[in-house]
Amino acid sequence: MLPNSFLEQLKDSSPIEGVVSSYVELKPIGGSKQIGLCPFHAEKSPSFVVYSSTQSFYCFGCRTGGDVISFIKKIENLDYMGALKVLANRAGIAIPAVEQTDSSNLNAAILRANKEAAKFFHETLKKTDRAMDYLQRERGIRPEIIKKFGLGFSPESWDALGQHLRNLGFSTKELLESKLLAKGKNNSVYDVFRNRIMFPIMNSRFEVIAFGGRVLNEGQPKYLNSYDSPVFKKSNSLFNINLAKNNLAKNNKQIILVEGYLDVISVVQAGFENVVATLGVALTTNQAKLLSVYADVVILAYDSDKAGQAATLKAIDILEIAGIDVKVLDLSGCKDPDEYIKKRGAIRFKDAIFSSVAALDFKLNKLKSEFDVDTTSGKASFLKAATELLSNVQSKISREVYLSKICSELNVDKQAIASHVGNLIKTRIKKGVQKEQKDIRRNLTAKSQIGQSQAKVPVNCIKSEELIIRSLYGNPDLFEMLKANCPPEIFVSPNKEIYVLLLDRLEKGLQLHISCITEKGSATLARLSEILAQNFDLQLDRNGILECVETLQKQKRKKEAADILKMNAEELRKYMNDISNYKKC
Ligand code: GTP
Ligand code: MN
Repeated sequence: MLPNSFLEQLKDSSPIEGVVSSYVELKPIGGSKQIGLCPFHAEKSPSFVVYSSTQSFYCFGCRTGGDVISFIKKIENLDYMGALKVLANRAGIAIPAVEQTDSSNLNAAILRANKEAAKFFHETLKKTDRAMDYLQRERGIRPEIIKKFGLGFSPESWDALGQHLRNLGFSTKELLESKLLAKGKNNSVYDVFRNRIMFPIMNSRFEVIAFGGRVLNEGQPKYLNSYDSPVFKKSNSLFNINLAKNNLAKNNKQIILVEGYLDVISVVQAGFENVVATLGVALTTNQAKLLSVYADVVILAYDSDKAGQAATLKAIDILEIAGIDVKVLDLSGCKDPDEYIKKRGAIRFKDAIFSSVAALDFKLNKLKSEFDVDTTSGKASFLKAATELLSNVQSKISREVYLSKICSELNVDKQAIASHVGNLIKTRIKKGVQKEQKDIRRNLTAKSQIGQSQAKVPVNCIKSEELIIRSLYGNPDLFEMLKANCPPEIFVSPNKEIYVLLLDRLEKGLQLHISCITEKGSATLARLSEILAQNFDLQLDRNGILECVETLQKQKRKKEAADILKMNAEELRKYMNDISNYKKC
């Protein structure tokens, strides 16, 4: 699609280490490698490696890998063209005009369709008494709040929305892509949302990107959310981020995080617009990152049931890793913020926000409630768990403060407990370093194994394939030799596809750069980055490669032995001919 010259210019001006380092703090670890905390999963010790020489990245923790373009796609939640735009902007290069229209036109159409759908749902709500009654009487939502959120109602019809939007000029393709319509049997299409209270979900630019729909009264499923679309990824979005981000105090940037749409609405109605909700799934690292853009502090106000409390513990870790201070709000006896505000009013809720406790206090209180600290053994068990928690605290001052508090509450000697925490920290540091080294050096161990066995046979076929690919990638001069000695047919795994691709580019006189390997889609790209990362230090010379080729050929012959018996004379002659050709080179 895009001219190669453009891609090559773009990749030359977008070195992966430079691009990644504006998102991730990277530390050099030698050999043109840099390491940092993976932005794609929650981790406390770094296993995300950026390789300057291969222009690829790979996380040994979550096995995510790719090139500079797929990095931007993933971290910014963009499609391929969107990522190119970001990189081109960054480098100050113009994107060839024709190419950028297709997907960005579609995205713009989807956003327009969503906006029209929101209007349609809102108008329908105003005309539907039973829906209005539900919101106002049963849920106590005031008219100005209904308007503020653009709440709506989807009629009990299979095609009312579809017809309305088609009349406005939207194509069926656009409406299917927006996920407002879905395909039924015989290529028919139907409205996804029917007979539901509609909550428009907006991004931080106030564009409607999706909807949540709640049944009136009882029914299943209680909520239906839009499926992911080109403009919406559930795991990257937060309900009400648009209002929340505009309503933060300058010197106190805190956002309240709740579970439900209706919790958000109640909290806003009570006068606090700095509130968001995840969309029915556990908080993700991307959502935490989004929060960290706007907020310094997140106050967790999840449901008070068991599930909500478990989710609170998980959310604390994810948010803290994103660099956010976490507090936890006590709903004392109420099911959720919605119920709290209804029962106790806005002023009491404000008090609850004010007296929300630091995440560590929440964890310690929770621990304390799990043990009977009035008994000796209960006290000991609690202390064991509590010291474990404290040893995770980075700040020495905080550790001291909490330690003093716990020890005086339980009436135990602080000195002994403090030295225990000290020991725990030492072991933890040691273990952490060991794990890091293990992860990073996995490939080095592999290297020494292969080093010893160079004279014999390399480890196995897949490894051989990986080494051939890694070596060719690092040294395209091997092309002629491999072309003559290593036909793709001898590959036993899907690595073959990558090998064929590399050969093909070299045959055409093109550069081997990971960003140019996009033709086969992201899975292939991810696999290539994995091969490059896991075998980074294992570039082989000509002889090493020939051994890998030999391993693959042996395997191939083994597999073929059975087939040979079935060959006719002509097939056998051709087969013998092929073998002797490989051997000649
Ligand atoms: P009410 O229970 O009516 O007060 O609404 P709520 O928003 O408080 O819902 P609830 O506490 O039951 O669930 C919290 C959130 O989880 C909801 O806002 C939805 O985002 C999500 N959720 C709940 N039920 C479902 C469901 O059946 N399917 C999906 N996909 N999400 C759900
Ligand atoms: Mn709820």
